[in-house]
Amino acid sequence: MNKTILSVLPVVALAAAVLVPAARSGAQTAPSAADGMRLYQAKCGGCHSIAANKVGPAHKGVFGRKAGMAPGYNYSPALRAANITWNATTIDQWLQGPQKMVKGTRMFLSVPNPAERAAIIAYLRSDAAK
Ligand code: HEC
Repeated sequence: MNKTILSVLPVVALAAAVLVPAARSGAQTAPSAADGMRLYQAKCGGCHSIAANKVGPAHKGVFGRKAGMAPGYNYSPALRAANITWNATTIDQWLQGPQKMVKGTRMFLSVPNPAERAAIIAYLRSDAAK
């Protein structure tokens, strides 16, 4: 019996050595809502929160909603008139340059890094922001 265990052990060890790094690198490339939450707090939190209007509108339920619809927020005429529904594609475009997407909007910040945009979008569509 000991012989069987000893002969299987190296195989198990090898499999673990191969599989664990693969799983780790997968976790790094897939956008994670947890990373997105940290990025959101760092980059967006000065002007936005999920629950409350600040300098920018509250983001509760923003994913899937039309632009300019956060209750009680005073939007620019440009964003209010923009016929955009926020989803992964439109938020990605928005974060590459709000002014390019909606001329006259009052949001200026852009996020040039695609992985950071993907993580922030994953957070905005997660349960935490619904
Ligand atoms: C310096 C302040 C500021 C920062 C930082 C900022 N925003 Fe904004 N954001 C605004 C303002 C102001 C508006 C409203 C623009 C308007 O009315 O034209 C807005 C609007 C938006 C909207 C449209 C919401 C709606 O209800 O239509 C989204 C989505 C958004 N921001 C996402 C983000 C994300 C994600 C980040 C972080 C990467 C971010 N913003 C960072 C100020 C900011």
